[in-house]
Amino acid sequence: MSLRTRLTERLGIEHPIISAPMGSIAGGRLAAAVTQAGGLGLIGAGYGDATWLEREFGAAGNRRVGCGFITWSLARSPELLDGVLSRSPAALMLSFGAPAPFAGRIKAAGVPLICQVQTMAHVREALAAGADIIVAQGSEAGGHGALRATFTLVPEVADHLRKASPDTLLVAAGGVGDGRGLAAALMLGADGVLVGSRMMASEEALTPPGFQKAIIAADGDSTVRTKAVDTVRGITWPDGFTGRAITTDFVKEWHGRDAELAEPSVQAREQERFWKAFHAGEADHTGVFFGEVVGLVHAVRPVDEIVRDMAQEAERLLRDGAGKIVH
Ligand SMILES: Cc1cc2nc3c(=O)[nH]c(=O)nc-3n(C[C@H](O)[C@H](O)[C@H](O)COP(=O)(O)O)c2cc1C
Repeated sequence: MSLRTRLTERLGIEHPIISAPMGSIAGGRLAAAVTQAGGLGLIGAGYGDATWLEREFGAAGNRRVGCGFITWSLARSPELLDGVLSRSPAALMLSFGAPAPFAGRIKAAGVPLICQVQTMAHVREALAAGADIIVAQGSEAGGHGALRATFTLVPEVADHLRKASPDTLLVAAGGVGDGRGLAAALMLGADGVLVGSRMMASEEALTPPGFQKAIIAADGDSTVRTKAVDTVRGITWPDGFTGRAITTDFVKEWHGRDAELAEPSVQAREQERFWKAFHAGEADHTGVFFGEVVGLVHAVRPVDEIVRDMAQEAERLLRDGAGKIVH
């Protein structure tokens, strides 16, 4: 018994599970482990660093992995795209910004184009750019995103695709941490899921152990969509995007006080505190992006177990669940 969807068929994978291209967290080891486990792993190019990318593609060895860029940031160093395309990635994902300027090169290289979207306007933009796969990301998600919830965004995008572009696949993201989330996403009309936070609490992610400790200790009430983590780093995101992070002491102190935090002397002081703690892996004095699914994550586990359990639990629920409920 296994889950077969249009996503497993299109990508030639065993389970309809893609790991998210989380900047500085999703390196080659994580991506390769997800692929090895039967999903598809994506390396997170983040804000773009050619040396880091080179190293992480190396760390993936000869496993088939893809890569994801923050689109508005890629626009500032577009040459990074050629570097990644020269490695024949299994897929290229663009998130947060207009995909059109890059879509042509990706598609000309014969690489599947994945566009992550947060609104219906983004869906139309992604389709116009020729997206092969759309990732509908709900607000529960860890890291950057917007306001629509997964539970309504996914079926609305599914309806739209059925009419406007039936060959475009749909993947759900935001709040998927176990087989229940995967099964629910498939029922909402998705062909698979993209999982970030749950993979961040894996042995193969580049997550500092101190962050993983904070993740395990937190429950689902302990995250917030905030700008504080960007403001302290001096990173200006396009309007409408915030980052969901754990409510560490730093975030509790600065959430909603961006004007004060951006004041140069305050920013310099807090930036020093932030990076010192970040590099030491001390969660309390820095920012740890993570989603609401944190309340479902109780242990750091190897990727092969996370992927296998998620797939098996979804299979079991979809096979046996109906018989328990439909009479
Ligand atoms: C630590 C972290 C970093 C992330 N960085 C990126 C990124 O660089 N690019 C991107 O497209 N998405 C990024 N995301 C968002 C993911 O692509 C994805 O939408 C999200 O993780 C899905 O929700 P989940 O966290 O509930 O699984 C990040 C998520 C996390 C948790």
